[in-house]
Amino acid sequence: MNNFAFLAQNPDYRSFSKDCIDAEIAFKNSYDSCVKLTRTALDAAIKYFYAKNNRAFSDNLFDLIENAGLNRSLSDKLHFCRRLGNDAIHNKKEFSAEDAQQCLKNLFDFVNFIDNRQIAFKNLIGMENILQTELCGIKLNTPIFAASGTFGFGEEFADFVDLKRLGGVMVKCITLKPRRGNDGVRITETPSGMLNCIGLENPGVDAFLTKILPRIKDKMNIIVNISGSSVEDYAKLAKMLDVDGISAIELNISCPNVKDGGIIFGTDEKQASKVTFAAKNATKKPVIVKLSPNVTDITRIARAVESSGADCISMINTLMGMEINIQTWRPTLGNITGGLSGGAIKPVALRMVYQTAKKIKIPIIGMGGIRSASDAAEFFLAGASAVAIGTANFSEPSITMKIADDLEKYLKSCGLNSIKDLIGKVKA
Ligand SMILES: Cc1cc2nc3c(=O)[nH]c(=O)nc-3n(C[C@H](O)[C@H](O)[C@H](O)COP(=O)(O)O)c2cc1C
Repeated sequence: MNNFAFLAQNPDYRSFSKDCIDAEIAFKNSYDSCVKLTRTALDAAIKYFYAKNNRAFSDNLFDLIENAGLNRSLSDKLHFCRRLGNDAIHNKKEFSAEDAQQCLKNLFDFVNFIDNRQIAFKNLIGMENILQTELCGIKLNTPIFAASGTFGFGEEFADFVDLKRLGGVMVKCITLKPRRGNDGVRITETPSGMLNCIGLENPGVDAFLTKILPRIKDKMNIIVNISGSSVEDYAKLAKMLDVDGISAIELNISCPNVKDGGIIFGTDEKQASKVTFAAKNATKKPVIVKLSPNVTDITRIARAVESSGADCISMINTLMGMEINIQTWRPTLGNITGGLSGGAIKPVALRMVYQTAKKIKIPIIGMGGIRSASDAAEFFLAGASAVAIGTANFSEPSITMKIADDLEKYLKSCGLNSIKDLIGKVKA
């Protein structure tokens, strides 16, 4: 018997893998439904194949024979499955075990053909590993993360993004107790960016561990962003989150939108050190410390947390900003001030990454206004080992994938075989 289970391991085949597996399972119960389901699976696989070859789905397989390298004997096999499938669906014909087996075998030959071509294609242009890298011992398929607070718990983006292709998802900030966030207007658009004062709304660590984590673990690298109002809060959270399915902890010591959002720790070297040290002692997971740009010299905070054991630094969080409505003379945001993010902050973030990379040895995940592969490339050149995309996810949910694709092309165009060859290479 064939075994279609291998298809499930490649998220790229999501649109037809389940149908194939269902058809195979049906063989045990009913040959007729097996034939029917094989036809459904076949059409899903053909649809995928058409899309891969940039052609609109049609019933005519000759187009694929002529233009996409499908050979005649394979197309005969597909016609066989379709004919039997149609008879099963429309004429309620009954089928033998041999018929059902032949349908499954033909389907299997076709999905194997698709898979072999895909592998050959990837090998040919070396796409498989040029972006693959590693950070704090975590294997990354690409050095592109989704930034905390802009990507939910990752699952919300599953229709737009191959989550496994991301370096990881920094899930939204988790606190000890649930928080309902700030009242009033929480988001306003600015030229080239946005101001937000969400106020760390989240379901709390218990609900995260019992309800959310079981749903999302194994689907992506998960980095949990945590925040607290005391050193003990951070240590407690880090300990509670030292569980299977979590790749790293990110200490948010930089939220400018709530009094107890950690900003007190992010603007004072001693406090930043204390909280890093406490979290490191409470967990075996890598600890990433997220820095605030709302300081005079960010490199001093970076050095302080590095010497207290941080494994990595992520930077930057949002810049404090404000907007006033000139009709009402009131601040637009319910919280009066908010955090500025998006394109407008990119030059500031880039400058800070550049300055910090020269002062520390641990890796940096750079973020702030990245909207394209060229923005990302600037952060790598400035010294970031990985990047995270935040605000851009709101306007284009699949932007992380586009950035990954374009970054691969950019590296190739520079004659580089690894993203590592770009890190810190700015000629300044
Ligand atoms: C709506 C919104 C919510 C955010 N929530 C968090 C959060 O919970 N924790 C955190 O560390 N950063 C949070 N951030 C900051 C982002 O993770 C990121 O550091 C920042 O927005 C800069 O990147 P960007 O310009 O690509 O958005 C939030 C940003 C936005 C826009």
